[in-house]
Amino acid sequence: MKILILNGPNLNKINLRAKPIYGSLSLEEIEALITQTYPKINFIFKQTNHEGTMIDILQDFDGEAIIINPGAYTHTSIALRDCLEYLNILKVEVHLSDFTNREDFRKKNYISEVVNLTISGNYHLGYLQAVDYIIKHLKIREKYD
Ligand code: DQA
Repeated sequence: MKILILNGPNLNKINLRAKPIYGSLSLEEIEALITQTYPKINFIFKQTNHEGTMIDILQDFDGEAIIINPGAYTHTSIALRDCLEYLNILKVEVHLSDFTNREDFRKKNYISEVVNLTISGNYHLGYLQAVDYIIKHLKIREKYD
């Protein structure tokens, strides 16, 4: 099973940002935790600060599922939304923070309506929950499709 984990702008500096909001792990530590927790899954880890590059990475991916944290593009990017809409694979959106209970400008989410699941507010655990969801979902699909 191949899963893309794509993180957007400023997530490469997550350990420099507010710890009570984002938790204390760096992106590298989160990625290491994911690999250690699921040693049999082939994860492709990508991070970029650029909207178009995120779309290029999504368009080029050939695998079973995507986990995406679009960062601030969640609240602004119709281009990213449109790309995710036509990608016909399992898609999970993860946010470290509970962005729904923060500033008003974070209330708009262009991504949630084009993904299978949105997980927010569970810090790094959200990524592990996303992998669990994908594993279960793909197993059920295999059995009943
Ligand atoms: C974030 C939430 C966004 O509002 C913010 O712009 C981020 C990180 C999160 O993981 O909580 O950069 O996606």
